Formats: sequence, structure tokens, C-alpha cells
Amino acid sequence: MKILVTGGTGYIGSHTCVELLDAGYEIVVIDNFSNSQPDVLDKIKMITRKDFKFYKGDVCDKEILQMIFKENKIDAVVHFAGFKAVGESVIKPLMYYRNNIDSTLSLLEVMNEYNCKKIVFSSSATVYGKPDKLPIKENFSLKTTNPYGATKLMIEDILRDLYISDNDWSIAILRYFNPIGAHASGLIGENPNDIPNNLMPYIVKVATKELECLNIFGDDYDTLDGTGVRDYIHVVDLSKGHIKAIEKVIKDKGVDAYNLGTGRGYSVLELVNTFMKVNNVKINYKIVGRRPGDIDACYADPSYAKEKLGWSASLGIEQMCKDAYNFIKKIEEM
Ligand SMILES: NC(=O)c1ccc[n+]([C@@H]2O[C@H](COP(=O)([O-])OP(=O)(O)OC[C@H]3O[C@@H](n4cnc5c(N)ncnc54)[C@H](O)[C@@H]3O)[C@@H](O)[C@H]2O)c1
Repeated sequence: MKILVTGGTGYIGSHTCVELLDAGYEIVVIDNFSNSQPDVLDKIKMITRKDFKFYKGDVCDKEILQMIFKENKIDAVVHFAGFKAVGESVIKPLMYYRNNIDSTLSLLEVMNEYNCKKIVFSSSATVYGKPDKLPIKENFSLKTTNPYGATKLMIEDILRDLYISDNDWSIAILRYFNPIGAHASGLIGENPNDIPNNLMPYIVKVATKELECLNIFGDDYDTLDGTGVRDYIHVVDLSKGHIKAIEKVIKDKGVDAYNLGTGRGYSVLELVNTFMKVNNVKINYKIVGRRPGDIDACYADPSYAKEKLGWSASLGIEQMCKDAYNFIKKIEEM
């Protein structure tokens, strides 16, 4: 089985490439390195001791996609490529709509052309907006509060419409909660070049003194300690979810969405305190005002993914904190 992985040198994509290769799949990767580094390719090969084809290119570009499908017999696609920063999407909405929607349309058109109709798509818990109750189930109403989320919701609609038009498609929409952590080897992980948007990369940069202090946005939320609660999931667990989703789309036709989360929420302070404890390191932080658009709490009901995909998360918050720090320390040693 040959799987095309778009955005395969990115954070979740690289971990999923490792899991796919370890599970015995052949992979072909495309990425334009807009948010990743070429050396990730060697790291994936070092971890797995397996080789694969890579194409440097833009998924919006139909010509390179046609070349990939012509040169390789692709059985299914895992589509990660896209921009992902909520704040940036508010400032540069056109860039987000263009990249995320255009890449998906180009990909689906070329897949159709080559009669490859199995796809796993990276959606996000952001499509639930501010949920009325918790935990979040897949059948909750969908709404978003920012252009990034709108691109995810639009793509979900495109995929559902595509299936309605042609029942030969097999489509798994994976709604990720909050992936953190890194591969146990410490070779791949999340290391944004800019000031991080997400909590864990920020904590890590404060731990290594690259940044001075962590701002915690609000301690007056309706949660146990007042700080926001999220469903953090180890990126390796999340990546294993893609293997189950690939198995599903290979086996069954249809379109369906699955929450990939642990089902357990942790507050910002719980995460910071766990990080300090397991890594024996100090994190300077201060409480600042709420960030517009943030919600009190968000965590998944992951039972549908367990029932339909046979997947559930197994790694805990302590492992997530250890692995995230181990990855960054390895980079510093190099
Ligand atoms: N990390 C999260 O917290 C999170 C949560 C929910 C959903 N997601 C979604 O999961 C997917 C992967 O996220 P990630 O955290 O690995 O992000 P990432 O930025 O690390 O990876 C995305 C990869 O896609 C590449 N890319 C972007 N646009 C491209 C294009 N037009 N052509 C070719 N390559 C392109 C980037 O260079 C990068 O390597 C994204 O679609 C993201 O929206 C991420």
C-alpha cells in the first residue's frame, strides 16, 4: 500500500510518516517547507531505517500533484498540508483561505483524475467553536470564530459534498484536540521558528531560556484553577490514530468525522506544573488578561474513534512533557 502524505515534514506529518513506515506502508511525501525543515526527512529515515520518495512542491500546484500520481501508484492520501495559526489567520485571512482551500481542491481534483478516492484529512476541534456542553461529541453543532477554523469547516463541507456526489469516496475527517510532545527518539518534534502560538512550544522555549516568561492568558475562567482547560494529546498517539483511519478508508466507503483526543482536560497551570516537576526545571510565568476568542474548557469524547477505528490514546501528560523537553534539549546539544 502506498500512501501520499502532504505536509509530511511538519509536526504531525513527520510523526505520522514514522508510524506509517513502521506499520509497513510505503509513503510518498510532498511539502514546500513553508513551516518545516528539510532535515526532518533524514530524521524520519534514521528513526525508521526506511527510505521513501519526497517531492518539494506546493500542494496548490496541480502539475506537481499530477506528476506524483503519474509516477507512483497512490492508494490513499493523508492530507496535513495547510497553515495552522489561528492568530495569524485573523491578520492574513486571504493567505489562509488561499492556501488551505486551494491545496485541498487541487489535491481532490487530481485524486479524482487518477481514481484515488481514499483520504484522511486533518481537521481540528476548533470546528466546534464554543461548545454548549462537555465533553465534545462529533454530532455537536459546528461553527468557528476565526478564518483558520473556517477553512477547516469549509473543507469538511467540501469532503461531505464530494461523497454525496460520488459514493466511491472513502473519507475520514480527524478532529484533533491539542497535540503536544515529541517522538521518543528526540529526533522529531515541534520547533517553530517564530514566537510560538501554542502553549507547549512556548513553555519549552521558556524552559531553555530562549524566551523569558510565559504569559498565561486569564485566570478567571470557569475552571478548577481559573486557567483554560484543553485536551492535550501526545503526538505519537495522534499519529497512530492516522494508521487506524487509513485502515478504515481502505476498508470502508463513506465519510465520517472522529475526535482524536484523550477525553481528559488539563488546565494551563496543571500543564506548567507537570512540566516543571517531571523535567526538574523552572518556568517563569505571569498571568495576563484573557486572549480574545479563547474558551474556558475544551475536551473530547473520544469514544466514537474507539468504537469505529479501534483507537484510543495511551500516553499521559507526564510523558508528553518529558518528550517535548527531551526533543528541544537534543536540538540544543547538536
Ligand atoms: N498542531 C495542531 O495543534 C493542530 C491542531 C488541529 C489541526 N491541525 C492541522 O493538522 C495539520 C498538520 O499540523 P501541524 O501541526 O503538523 O502543522 P505544521 O505546520 O507543522 O505542518 C504542516 C506542513 O505542511 C506544509 N505546507 C503548508 N502548506 C503547504 C502547501 N500549500 N504545499 C505543501 N506543503 C505545505 C508545511 O511546510 C508543513 O511542513 C494542519 O492541517 C493543521 O491545521 C493541527
